Amino acid sequence: MNIEKVGVVGCGLMGSGIAEVAAKSGFDVVISEVSAEVLEAGQAKIKKSLDRAVDKGKLEAADRDAAWGRIHFSTDLADHADRDLVVEAIIEDMDAKNELFSALDDLCGADAIFASNTSSLPITDMAAGTNRPDKVVGLHFFNPVPVMKLVEVVRTIATSDEAFDAAFAFAAALGKDPISAKDNSGFVVNLLLVPYMLDAIRQLERGVASIVDMDKAMTLGLGYPMGPFVLCDFVGIDTLYRISEIMFDEYREERYAPPPLLRRLVAMGRYGRKSGQGFYDWSGEQPTPLPI
Ligand code: 3HC
Repeated sequence: MNIEKVGVVGCGLMGSGIAEVAAKSGFDVVISEVSAEVLEAGQAKIKKSLDRAVDKGKLEAADRDAAWGRIHFSTDLADHADRDLVVEAIIEDMDAKNELFSALDDLCGADAIFASNTSSLPITDMAAGTNRPDKVVGLHFFNPVPVMKLVEVVRTIATSDEAFDAAFAFAAALGKDPISAKDNSGFVVNLLLVPYMLDAIRQLERGVASIVDMDKAMTLGLGYPMGPFVLCDFVGIDTLYRISEIMFDEYREERYAPPPLLRRLVAMGRYGRKSGQGFYDWSGEQPTPLPI
């Protein structure tokens, strides 16, 4: 299973990052979105990130241009028909993922590998809905994709060694340092990270300390790059909410249950950095904590 042509479905934060690193690593990339508007926004994100890499002296201008030239932007799913690997990075919703993989199943060649960048949905449930369960894996990237070295490569009880090895080699070819994980909701990182972030919110509800002080505690006390509330805003409050619902549904353990404050923030559209407000207001030079 030789991967040369890569498809990415979904041009949001994660999809655009995956397309960018794949193109920079020499892969021929098709990235698709449902609407031209969202596609254009993703296109701008990739361009900005490539330009930034050049400005920082991490990438030659010629390599940026070559990478840009390797990405084909599309609003037609059929453009994935000749891909060796298709990675989905669409909304975290099982019905939407199943619908997508079912359409790709009809479009793509029999040997094509399908991968999901899901953070918490079972890969097995996606594989079961296709005619190629042996060729379905998880490829879980981390935000910001160009920076974070980890990829969790996830195999189900049906994944073939060939498909897993090809996906693992693909992640390594992107310059990442992949690990192998079983198909349990949350894999390795979110299994540990989600309870930590939810617990920080619960402690905030209890009035243990302020948002800023709890963030300081973890950055200055432990050397974490971000405190839990900056991280919540960075990951996306709505995304964290959805992940915790999925993990709670899977494990029925209290530590994965979304705390009421998380629900309230979602209800108010305070999704974090992407919406301008979450635990912090992101409109100024520096994030400032908001009332909760
Ligand atoms: N694209 C490309 N490069 C970027 C970038 C981006 N979006 N954001 C930052 N960088 C680069 C910068 O260019 C800089 O490179 P340099 O050191 O060579 O100059 C380097 O990263 C550091 O960036 P900054 O100096 O601007 O800022 P920081 O030092 O604060 O680092 C950070 C930013 C890398 C985001 C750091 O704060 C960090 O590691 N935060 C934690 C991120 C994290 O935990 N991610 C995982 C989230 S969980 C997830 O994704 C899973 C999901 O399922 C929930």
